[in-house]
Amino acid sequence: MQSTIILGIESSCDDTSAAVLRDGVMLSNVIAGQKVHEYYGGVVPELASRAHQQNIIPVVHKALSDAGIDKSELSAVAFTRGPGLLGSLLVGTSFAKGFAQALQLPLIEVNHLQAHVLAHFIRNNEGETDVPEFPFLCLLVSGGNSQLIVVRSASDMEIVGQTIDDAAGEAFDKCAKVMGLPYPGGPFVDRLAQQGNRAAFKLSKPEIAGYDYSFSGLKTSFLYLVRDKELENPEFITENLNDLCASLQATIVDILLKKLIKAANELKIKTIAVAGGVSANSGLRNALLETGARRGWKVFIPPVQFTTDNAAMIAMAGLFRYAAGDICSLDVVPYARVTNQL
Ligand code: KG4
Repeated sequence: MQSTIILGIESSCDDTSAAVLRDGVMLSNVIAGQKVHEYYGGVVPELASRAHQQNIIPVVHKALSDAGIDKSELSAVAFTRGPGLLGSLLVGTSFAKGFAQALQLPLIEVNHLQAHVLAHFIRNNEGETDVPEFPFLCLLVSGGNSQLIVVRSASDMEIVGQTIDDAAGEAFDKCAKVMGLPYPGGPFVDRLAQQGNRAAFKLSKPEIAGYDYSFSGLKTSFLYLVRDKELENPEFITENLNDLCASLQATIVDILLKKLIKAANELKIKTIAVAGGVSANSGLRNALLETGARRGWKVFIPPVQFTTDNAAMIAMAGLFRYAAGDICSLDVVPYARVTNQL
């Protein structure tokens, strides 16, 4: 049987990425990050768009050469259509269209959030078979999203809960900023938390109905705690950095796990996956494994390289669509937001 070789292109935020998958096995995954935003403490859309324009051709070139694949061997081109920053999405979308048209290849649009979920199906070699069975429940946590998703198939995903204000990643990043840590602060909090006492400080936890999340109260309580303590002791942050990080991380993980457990119980789903940038967090990963072992869940945690934005997951989602004959036309345009049904 002939192989299906997909080139994936991702440009939804501040990572330009291209990857090649053969029948779901990853042959290459190249990611060019953008340092330019660090100075501003957050992603500047216009700068992101310009950096994508500079990066896209070398990144695609490297993805093909790392994979040892000539462009004539490709079966299709998959790209992130949305959600994301429009200026960034436009670069990947326009490139994918031009590339597909020039080579007469089918073009496949991919929803970035679906792709994060489907990253669990990427395999490193032919023999690998341990992928989640449908239906499963996926906790998708990133800088822009905190969602609980019932995944019934590769194309049927329902968001049953989501944040009503900030995302979990934003809570990490904004509180990290209060402590003077670099952007994005999540990985720094994670590292410092490992030396700290998670019970040192009590922070606010939300009381929200259903499976929805809220992180703005936690952020405010963290800000007020630090502000009040600094009035008493200007060295408060420096002297308590590890404990602050450990308490913050433990609170975010508790909030995430509480709704995940509720949803898993009520919806009677025992296959649980996690995805998105925050799923790299060691506290969250450990808590999921412990909770899963206690509750008899089968837990799927992605390798760290697939937690942040990457094109391998776009190619994987593209493969599912390609198999379903879901090809898009050249007049497709990017979208910034999505609705409740992924
Ligand atoms: O999925 P992602 O790469 O893209 C966006 O949605 O922007 O997620 C980025 C988010 C950031 O908020 C970052 O701080 C967070 O993921 N993050 C982490 C860790 N690694 C990345 N948060 C906590 N612990 C980590 N180890």
